[in-house]
Amino acid sequence: MSDEDVELEARLEEQEVFEPSDSFVEQANVSDAGIYDEFEENWPECWEQAAELLDWEEEYDQVLDNSNPPFYEWFTDGTINASTNCLDRHLDERGDEAAIEWVGEPVDEDNVTLTYSELHEKVNEAAAALRDLGVGEDDVVTMYMPMIPELPIAMLACARIGAPHSVVFAGFSADALATRMNAADSEYLVTCDGYYRRGDPLDHLDKANEGLSGVEHDTETVVVDRLGPNGDDFGHDLAEDQHDWGELMAAHEGAEVEPVDRDAEDMLFLMYTSGTTGEPKGVKHTTGGYLSWTAWTSQAVLDIKPEDTYFCSADIGWITGHSYIVYGPLALGTTTMMYEGTPDHPDRDRLWEIVEEYEANQLYTAPTAIRAFMKWGTEYPDEHDLSSLRLLGTVGEPINPRAWKWYYKHIGNEECPVVDTWWQTETGGMMVTTLPGVKDMKPGSAGPPLPGLDARIVDTNGEEVDPGRAGYLTVNKPWPGMLRTLYKNDERFIEEYWAEYSDTDSSNSDDWVYFPEDGAKIDEDGYITVLGRVDDVINVSGHRLGTMEIESAIVGVEGVAEAAVVGGDHEVKGEAVYAYVITEEGQEETDEFREEIVQGVLDAIGPIARPEQVIFTPELPKTRSGKIMRRLLEDIANEEDLGDTSTLRNPEIVEDIRKVVQED
Ligand code: WTA
Repeated sequence: MSDEDVELEARLEEQEVFEPSDSFVEQANVSDAGIYDEFEENWPECWEQAAELLDWEEEYDQVLDNSNPPFYEWFTDGTINASTNCLDRHLDERGDEAAIEWVGEPVDEDNVTLTYSELHEKVNEAAAALRDLGVGEDDVVTMYMPMIPELPIAMLACARIGAPHSVVFAGFSADALATRMNAADSEYLVTCDGYYRRGDPLDHLDKANEGLSGVEHDTETVVVDRLGPNGDDFGHDLAEDQHDWGELMAAHEGAEVEPVDRDAEDMLFLMYTSGTTGEPKGVKHTTGGYLSWTAWTSQAVLDIKPEDTYFCSADIGWITGHSYIVYGPLALGTTTMMYEGTPDHPDRDRLWEIVEEYEANQLYTAPTAIRAFMKWGTEYPDEHDLSSLRLLGTVGEPINPRAWKWYYKHIGNEECPVVDTWWQTETGGMMVTTLPGVKDMKPGSAGPPLPGLDARIVDTNGEEVDPGRAGYLTVNKPWPGMLRTLYKNDERFIEEYWAEYSDTDSSNSDDWVYFPEDGAKIDEDGYITVLGRVDDVINVSGHRLGTMEIESAIVGVEGVAEAAVVGGDHEVKGEAVYAYVITEEGQEETDEFREEIVQGVLDAIGPIARPEQVIFTPELPKTRSGKIMRRLLEDIANEEDLGDTSTLRNPEIVEDIRKVVQED
């Protein structure tokens, strides 16, 4: 480093508050600080500003119906179609502009640009094809696809005909697919033959078929041919209830499908996510509220304008991709990018190459990626012209100030505001973050709640804690993008998100408080720092995994008697999976057996849940009532001071486990 660089690093390290640049503020979609007071005074009508970003078929009667909390309804009696809002209404002005810029794995074919007209055409054809297969309004269509253009095409086609989609991340296992299709009674699946990973073709249909064999009802499957002849070696033959996507599309060439009028409260999609119990939760999002929320936050926080090229590096298989690759950006008529590959192939400058080539204006990524970039070194971004970037964003997990500053300096050249956005699958879109054209930024702290939102940090009794003290994050007023329920399970919906801090007997909405299960603290300026999950969910590389799900996968391996899974600190992934395993009598504790356990997790969930370490232990530390002390196991994994262990039923076991971990 030159002297100048050293000086700059030192200055950055000290700096705690960063102002957005004048040039950013001047052009920002939202730059009037009065918006916070305005929304507070005018709540809930303030959310008409979000609804007004959309085209409605029938105007709504009421902004919010809160007569039956926590079953809130937004924009009641309005009707709307999401695909019309993402496509048709842009055709006149932006028909020839790119809707999607798809960058594939660098194999032998070209990248794909889909203009709004082309995307509209394909979505219509796909909608006609799905309808012909029998998909009707309200039928749940599952998608098990990687980052290929057919995924958003299929999603929008479903939206057009009023069929909710349920996208299952392609990296999930066959079992995970089956569980989700069964839970949603989904009779339709759209998937593909395979895809590329770091240049090599990877079989996907095999996994899909295995999943289908675990589905309890009849299904129809559509298979996209992604690999062409490169997939020949996999020897796939389509079964009778499986159809080739290309053939279906050709058979419906030029078809036009009238968009179905959906009630604002009709389901747009389901997304399964992890929770405290082993069973994934089917988060239900609606058409009017969700689309308003993603459009408004895309505009206010990501500062998206129609002429922008916007790049979010998430996977559409997660909520971030739903909200901020597909629905929010397309509702605003911008160009949204999709990248099929990984950031390190063919080299570690892949994202910077893409930003430069496409002159991306925003980059929205995860702290885990930023930590990897930091580790790889500045030479990779330095080789590229990143001056097209105007705003940077992060999501998925806490970002430490060092990583924030690295991103700000080396990617944003100290000119781009960084928005650290806290939200969840359940919230539909962003909740706590700075408005980049209005607020100063404090690295490590996401910022204040967005205008119109009331978030508080409370203790176990629901009393607000003083600034600087750790407590629990709560959201005290409903918002349009919120989940409406857990699919076919209203009871669990109340239990999981509301019971903790609400007066559940009350029909007054003021008595209902949403609990996201995150710990947090607030400072004197109202900036919130999110500390992480307080339930049995761990966050590996920004992906939410339930420890119970992993434990039940491990216990399913023959020879395992009991297992406890915790998250341990990890330099790049944020958290990594540590599995403590008690074997059955007679089972040898060998490396081969460790491998079997790892394989059990891969089969049940997928590679994202791969244990970093499998630790054999004769016992697990338990409370006197028999509850496993996960916190203690976490501390062992992180080599932290364990504090007082005398209340344990079996305190001596802690030292034994610690020894095993150290030996490993
Ligand atoms: C965590 C992803 C700190 C949090 C959109 C939350 C964050 C969970 C942040 C939701 C952030 C997300 N700072 N933590 N900016 N963003 N989280 O459902 O623990 O996959 O509850 O949604 O990620 O994960 P999910």
